[in-house]
Amino acid sequence: MSAILLDGKKTAEEIREWVQTEVSAMIRAGCRVPRLTAIRVGDDPASEVYVRNKKNACEQVGIESEVRILPERTSQEELLHHIDSLNADESVHGILVQLPLPPQLKPEVIQERVSPLKDVDGFHPDNLGRLFSGNPRVVPCTPAGIMVLLEKYGIPLEGRRAAVIGRSNIVGKPVSILLLGKNATVTLCHSKTRDLREVVREAEIVVAAVGKPNTVTGEMVRKDSVIIDVGMNRLEGGLVGDVDFPKAKEKAAYITPVPGGVGPMTVAMLLHNTLNAAKRLQQIDP
Ligand code: GUN
Repeated sequence: MSAILLDGKKTAEEIREWVQTEVSAMIRAGCRVPRLTAIRVGDDPASEVYVRNKKNACEQVGIESEVRILPERTSQEELLHHIDSLNADESVHGILVQLPLPPQLKPEVIQERVSPLKDVDGFHPDNLGRLFSGNPRVVPCTPAGIMVLLEKYGIPLEGRRAAVIGRSNIVGKPVSILLLGKNATVTLCHSKTRDLREVVREAEIVVAAVGKPNTVTGEMVRKDSVIIDVGMNRLEGGLVGDVDFPKAKEKAAYITPVPGGVGPMTVAMLLHNTLNAAKRLQQIDP
C-alpha cells in the first residue's frame, strides 16, 4: 500500500490565506504594514531561488518586502552595519540573513546582532534559548513547518521513537527539541553516527535533513512510519530529497513529497513569523 502524502503545498496555501487575512485586518486597524528585509550575500544559486521565493510569497499576502543583495566580499563590519540600521528602522519588522554566508562572515555573530524581536528565523540565541526551555517566541521556519504538518494530519508523537538525521542549527537541532517537547523519544543522528541504518529502522518518525540523496533507503524505512524529507537536492533529473521516495512510500504510512512537502511550509512559516513580529513590535495581541 502506498503512503498518504503530507501535502505541504496545500497546507502552506491555507497558512498564507490566514496570514493575508490578518495583514488586511492590521491595515484596516491603521497599523503599519508588516515589512520584511532579507539580506543575501554573494551569488549562491540556491539562495537566489529561495530568497526570490520568499519575496514573492510576501507580496502575495500583502507583506512588504525588500531584498538587499550584497557582494560576496562584504566584510563582517559592513553586514553588521546593515543589520544595525534595520534594527533601528521602525518600518522594518522582520530581518532575515540568508544562509549559507561566505567564509569571512560568522553566522553566529551576525545572528546575534539581529534584534531578537525582528529575528523571523528564530536563530538569535535569546530565541533559541526560549525554544530550548519550552517557552518559544519564534520558532525556526522549517522545524515549525514540519510540526504544523504533523499536527494537521493528526500524527501522534507522544512516546514514539523519532530519528532526526542531520544536526544543523537550521533544522536538525531545533526540530529535535520540538519533537521532544511533544514527548517523542528523539535520536539525533549525524555523519558520525554508527549504525544509522539500525536507528532509522527502529524509528516511527524520521526527519531527514542532510542534503544527500538516498540517505534513507527503502530498506531502512520501518513499516507504517512517518517520513519527513527536508532534502532539496538538484540533480540532472530534477529536484529530489534525502529519501528514496518511490521505495519509502511503499512502506511508510505518511511521507512528504519533494517538491511540495516541507519546502512550501518553510516559506509559509516565514510569513507567519513576520506577521507575528509586526504584531509584537506594534503591541498587537497575536
Ligand atoms: N538557508 C536555508 N534555510 C534557511 C532558513 O530557514 N533561513 C535562512 N536565513 N537561511 C536559510
